Order: sequence, then C-alpha cells, then structure tokens
Amino acid sequence: MTTNNFKKNILCIGAGYVGGPTMTIIANKCPDYKITVVDISKERIDAWNSDQLPIFEPGLKERVLKVRGKNLFFSTDIDAAIDQADIIFVSVNTPTKNFGEGAGKAVDLQYIEQTARRIKENSRSNKIVVEKSTLPVRAAETLETILHSGKNGVHFEILSNPEFMAEGSGVRDMEFPDRVLIGSKDTPSGLAARKELVDVYLHWVPEENLITTNLWSSELSKLVSNAFLAQRISSINSIAAICEVTEADVTEVSKAVGRDSRIGAKFLNAGPGFGGSCFRKDILNLVYLCEYYQLNEIASFWEQVVTLNDYQMERYVKRILQVMFNTLVGKKLAVFGFAFKPDTGDTRDAPAIYICKRLLEEKACLRITDPHALKNARKDLEGIDSEVEYIEDPYKAAEGVHGIALITEWTEYSKLDYQKIFDKMEKPAFIFDGRNHLDHKALFDIGFNVYSVGKAPLTHF
Ligand SMILES: NC(=O)c1ccc[n+]([C@@H]2O[C@H](COP(=O)([O-])OP(=O)(O)OC[C@H]3O[C@@H](n4cnc5c(N)ncnc54)[C@H](O)[C@@H]3O)[C@@H](O)[C@H]2O)c1
Repeated sequence: MTTNNFKKNILCIGAGYVGGPTMTIIANKCPDYKITVVDISKERIDAWNSDQLPIFEPGLKERVLKVRGKNLFFSTDIDAAIDQADIIFVSVNTPTKNFGEGAGKAVDLQYIEQTARRIKENSRSNKIVVEKSTLPVRAAETLETILHSGKNGVHFEILSNPEFMAEGSGVRDMEFPDRVLIGSKDTPSGLAARKELVDVYLHWVPEENLITTNLWSSELSKLVSNAFLAQRISSINSIAAICEVTEADVTEVSKAVGRDSRIGAKFLNAGPGFGGSCFRKDILNLVYLCEYYQLNEIASFWEQVVTLNDYQMERYVKRILQVMFNTLVGKKLAVFGFAFKPDTGDTRDAPAIYICKRLLEEKACLRITDPHALKNARKDLEGIDSEVEYIEDPYKAAEGVHGIALITEWTEYSKLDYQKIFDKMEKPAFIFDGRNHLDHKALFDIGFNVYSVGKAPLTHF
C-alpha cells in the first residue's frame, strides 16, 4: 500500500534484538524502501529514537544514525503502520512456555497470535507476512488460519525467513550472511511473495547465498541450526570433564579434532555452558515437537544437550567450592563478565545467572563487573543481591577478593594487569577461567592458583 516515494513499505513488528538490527541493515542497504519498526513497548521505541539505543551491538549505532528519520522509523502506532505496509516482518518474542500444557518446553505463542490478530484487524490491502521469529514447524499454518479467518477479502501470503545472526556479531552477520533462508508455498502467490523478499535481499546478498525452500523446511532449519550449534558446545564440554581427570588438555584436543575438515574448528571451545535467549529455548522446542510426534528417542537425544549444559554450569560452581576449601561463606569473589557472550549486553539465559545464584546460595559475596551488562545483571539478580556489588571497573571489583570467576571472555579481560590485581587480592589467590581466555602460565607465575576448563590446574600448593 505504498502512497509515498518509496518502492515498498516494510514493517517489522517487534523492536528487539532481532527486529531493531535487521531492519537497520535493510534500511541501510535498501534506500528505496521505507522501513518502520513498531513495538508495544513505548520504552523500547523511545530508546530506539534516542541516543541510548536499547541494545548494544558493535557497529549498530552508526548504522541507525545514518538512516533514522530518512527511511527508518521507530513507532508505537502499530495499527496505522500495519495498514500502510506491503511486507510485514513478525519479530516478536517466542519464549518457552512456563505454564500449562508443554510448560518448560513448548513455545509460548501468545505474542505471535496477538500479532496475527492485530494484522488481520488493521489490514485493508493484501500483505506478505514474514515469520522472522523462531517458530515451531508448521506455525505458518496457524498464522494463515488466523489471518484468513473472518474473510475480509484481504489475502495474506506467509513466508518463513528465520534469522541466523549471532548477538555480538549481529551487524556483520547480517551484512555478510552465510545464507539467507526463505521458505514459501509452491503456489503462484507463494512464489510471487518469495520473489518480493528475494528482491529485498538482492540489494546486498549474493544470489548464491539465498536459499529457498518450502515453508516447513525453513521453519525446521532454524531449530536444527541452533540444536547443532548447542550440541557442539555440549560435546566439547563433555570432553572437558574427561580432560580434567586425565590431564589431557581440551584446547589441544579441540585443535586436533577441529583440523579434520569434516568436523571443522568452530564452536569447539569449552566453557561454563551455553547461554543466550535461543539455544535452550529452540532445542526444547525441538524436543517438544519430537514428543508431540511420538519420536521419543529423538526427543531424549536432543534433551541430553540441555541436560549436559546444566551439568557443566553446576560443575563449574562445584569446582570453585571444592577448590576454595569447601566453603564460600563470607568469601569475596569477583565475577568477570555477566553477558552470555562478549560484545553484547544481553544476559538472557546467561550461565552467569545460574552460577551467581549458586555462589550466593553458598553465601559468597559477589563483585560483578561487565562492560555492558550490569544493568541487566541487576535485574536478573533482583531480590537476591544483598551480597552483590555491581562494579564497572574490574580492578576495583577484584580488590580484596579471594577469587576471580571469569565467565564472559570480553577482550578487555585478557589485557588487564594481573600483577596489579594479584597484589590487592586475599591469599591464596584463585582464578577460575571459565573460558580459557587468559594466559594461565603467566597468571601462575604471578602467584595465582589457576583453574581453567578442561585442563589440569596450575597451583602453588
Ligand atoms: N536474539 C537473538 O539472537 C535471536 C537470533 C535469531 C532469532 N531470534 C528469534 O527472534 C525472535 C525475537 O527475538 P528477540 O531476541 O528480538 O526478542 P526481544 O524480546 O528482544 O524482542 C521482541 C519484541 O517484541 C515485542 N512484542 C511482543 N509482542 C508484541 C506485539 N503483540 N506487538 C508488538 N510488539 C510486540 C516486545 O515488546 C519486544 O520488544 C524470537 O523468536 C527469537 O527466538 C533471536
């Protein structure tokens, strides 16, 4: 329904970690399209319209500032934006259901359904509706049923276009994607809609990187991608546990194994467990789907990836407890990094949440530091943080502590002056490098007792 000088009006419903950045990139790459991003959260939209964007992602702010107010607009007027749109991306949250049938595994589809109903109520012209959110297989069927119920003469064509970007490298991932996946129906209107979306991406993505499939393959591929990635992390973490008891070194094992071109070197770093808003949720979604189709052995196979992740986080805590003479009562621990990965302020399902809660249960006193995630950390530990201090400066956070737990591998942590830190710590000084991010030999030489993941400890006892 374009009534301006732009070729098409694109709308994105949901201005979160996916909606905001993806639309910013589309607006940068497609000056001939008008892009509007809407959200029910006024606070989020106000932040997108301010100098303090609601999320941190390297390179994002510059790109927002380049196009905001030109062909990129953030608004809370959802109904008017729906009416004017030709293509609507749905990028609302799809969390794991925490109530009723399927609680703890199935996807909570309430935000998707609310969005579909709102699109239906406010549409006076045909529209392409694109699933950007991660959804269970065959969700497009449900969307279509809702959108076409009541027959107001408007046709909606559903496409699936899952997002594969990783937080922290989101801008690069979107500007140079490994692939863009578009699922559609194999009907004349389905193929025409697919072509419209392909035309958007062809502004910057080479044609050979565009993959087109049927709707169900596209929906399933997103779940499978995240399941495979998480499974690699759980696999190497399981090997880390073997290394710790055999004096094999997990970094050396990863290197040797990853050199096999059939396996590949990426995503083979041992750590305290995976986090982020997607891995656990999407695997559990896959598990629920398998159970629904009575594929119980397959459900158990994938569920084990999550079980092992929980075990890994607990193992990290138990090691701290055991090494620090089986009591943490009143001991001060500096926590280096709270975000679920570096270069983001996102803490959703971060291992740090579980680890800090467990350390607090053991009555440790925590000094948490993180370059971008302290605001979220405060929210995550609200109500249980009487023994927590949130400190921006890592040197101050480590002053007078008995141990340091490194949970997020921010580059800045590898560049700190650890002699200076050591000098102001209680002795014996412990460091638990949950990401194998630091120079362990150098730390040991300074005087630290060093415990890393999947390696023999370096201790002065
Ligand atoms: N975060 C990631 O790295 C990532 C990567 C790939 C895919 N995904 C998927 O993308 C989807 C969105 O994830 P996210 O991280 O951006 O979530 P998010 O929680 O950051 O953002 C979702 C936004 O949708 C808004 N919203 C909810 N219901 C709405 C409604 N009815 N109308 C308008 N706005 C509404 C919320 O207010 C929120 O701002 C999820 O399905 C997720 O699984 C996320």
